Amino acid sequence: MTLLITGGAGYIGSHMAWLCHDQNISCVVLDDLSTGFSDKLPQDTPLVVGDVADETLLEAVFKQHAITAIIHFAAKIVVPESVAHPLDYYRENTAKSCVLIDAAIKHGIKKFVFSSTAAVYGNAHDGLLKEKFNKIPTSPYGHSKLMIEQILSDAHHAHGLNYVALRYFNVAGADPKGRTGQSNPHATHLIKLANLVALGKLPELLIFGDNYPTPDGTGIRDYIHVADLVSAHACALNYLQQGGTPLVANCGYGQGFSVREVIAAVKQVSGIDFKVRVTSRREGDPASLVADATIARKVLGWTPHLNDLTTIVRHALDWEKKITHSKQ
Ligand code: UFG
Repeated sequence: MTLLITGGAGYIGSHMAWLCHDQNISCVVLDDLSTGFSDKLPQDTPLVVGDVADETLLEAVFKQHAITAIIHFAAKIVVPESVAHPLDYYRENTAKSCVLIDAAIKHGIKKFVFSSTAAVYGNAHDGLLKEKFNKIPTSPYGHSKLMIEQILSDAHHAHGLNYVALRYFNVAGADPKGRTGQSNPHATHLIKLANLVALGKLPELLIFGDNYPTPDGTGIRDYIHVADLVSAHACALNYLQQGGTPLVANCGYGQGFSVREVIAAVKQVSGIDFKVRVTSRREGDPASLVADATIARKVLGWTPHLNDLTTIVRHALDWEKKITHSKQ
């Protein structure tokens, strides 16, 4: 099996490339390097720089590397940006995935793992989210990903494409061995920004709304360590290898933390009491997203090992310090 990893030079994709390196899984990365970094990949991982919707390039990659499975990470992922620029999200996420899926079908590639998101659920539910719940996304980002799930389902019925769509909750942390991590200086995620404030790279941390219907009024999310997330992809590939049929599975720990709880963890791990200010809600943000990951555990056989907010924050902070020093 040779695996194509789209977006493999990005934050999550580069962790997948290292997992392949560690487990001797043959892979090739396709990345346009818009938010990815070639130097975060293992040296022996082939990198093709280009667009996932470039049909000529895909044809060449499929043939040259005898691709048998695809993990499709490449996407735009910022919820508020998707509210401001929805067409970018429908083009970059939905339309480009359509080209990739079409090319996979034409080349007889039957195994496809897709990066979906908890943002498909929206605000409609209380408690742990199950895959079968109604999906009412609150952002174009969520819609752009949900459409791809539908496209994959239709492609299965029409063409026999087998897939696993993993709905990621809030991915954070970094490679425990310190080989890769969130390297995008424009990343907008809470733990990344809180670490930057703790390290004095930003003046303050903004809390986007403290009047949500949650115990402390701030948004609740299920933070999952990136190393556990990529191990779920390895389980998904294994499942498809063994003839598994289409599956949608949440990837989270089933435990929610509020923005204030995350800030407390970052202050405790860093030992720095930084400035925090409450501002208005961010458009597109649901109040609470926490996973029921029974399907990932039972059907895919996924067992997370790093389910601990302090560990997640520590690995993310270690990485932030490392890239700060390497720039100096
Ligand atoms: N937040 C702040 N201040 C910040 C940044 C974030 O208060 O500076 C809050 C947000 O309002 C939200 C929580 O922290 O309540 C988490 O926000 P992130 O920006 O870290 O992540 P999102 O929940 O918006 O989105 C992420 C991914 C999506 C994925 C989603 C699933 O970017 O791709 O998690 O829950 F869909």
